[in-house]
Amino acid sequence: MKIALIGYGKMGKAIEEIALQRGHEITLKIDIDNISDFSQQNISEADVAIEFSSPHSAFDNVMKCLQFKIPVVCGSTGWLGKLEEVKKTCTANNGAFLYSSNYSIGVNIFFALNKYLASLMANYSEYDVSITETHHTQKKDAPSGTAITLAEQVLEKIKRKKVWVNHISDNAEELEIISERIDPAPGTHQIKYSSSIDNIEITHTAHNRMGFATGAVTAAEFIKGKQGIFTMKDVLGF
Ligand SMILES: NC(=O)c1ccc[n+]([C@@H]2O[C@H](COP(=O)([O-])OP(=O)(O)OC[C@H]3O[C@@H](n4cnc5c(N)ncnc54)[C@H](O)[C@@H]3O)[C@@H](O)[C@H]2O)c1
Repeated sequence: MKIALIGYGKMGKAIEEIALQRGHEITLKIDIDNISDFSQQNISEADVAIEFSSPHSAFDNVMKCLQFKIPVVCGSTGWLGKLEEVKKTCTANNGAFLYSSNYSIGVNIFFALNKYLASLMANYSEYDVSITETHHTQKKDAPSGTAITLAEQVLEKIKRKKVWVNHISDNAEELEIISERIDPAPGTHQIKYSSSIDNIEITHTAHNRMGFATGAVTAAEFIKGKQGIFTMKDVLGF
């Protein structure tokens, strides 16, 4: 498979390493210093684009891929206010788009576990629930996209919580997400249910970026030649 990498930072480089190991070819690498190379002609050599740039550039990059009719796997976080616009453009252009706030298979198992635990806890109002996420200090967005996904899953099941907030809160209707930034920290997410009797906690800790990169390349292999809007659920089947 021929891959265009849009964003060639820590994740772009990790994705390149995994893609080459799996026998794929990188036909284009776009970063801030060669944006003018992001043309229809250059990208059309690729079967799929993988976009990991920044919260500020992701939307424009994804829209450009869709306009150039190239299937796009996006991992950039912190831009999801514009997700609906991307989905509409994808459908209008008969394109292919796959987004996940976290491509690691372990985190996707953790998402399934989070949903199941939240459904068990739904009727036990004596437990308060909160989320903590810890990342390196260079992370640009807070809370993390993964923490937002976890929070939305909890809100879907725990109806006593109405909204997530990114600060300490005394309001029982608010689901607290605490964001910690320390170095080095590739990414930890914890969901904690606490009552006066006991605590139940589930934690996912990433040891490095390779899990995200492997998931993103697996997603690119999945989306090649397809049309539609997908998530990691479609790739993994759970
Ligand atoms: N979904 C996931 O599984 C997952 C996992 C890790 C990181 N991320 C997200 O991926 C994004 C990138 O993470 P990173 O660790 O590689 O960051 P990074 O800062 O190391 O790399 C980002 C790169 O994008 C480049 N860039 C900036 N503007 C650009 C533009 N307009 N076009 C192309 N490239 C541009 C930067 O110069 C930089 O090299 C972040 O939003 C991060 O939160 C997602």
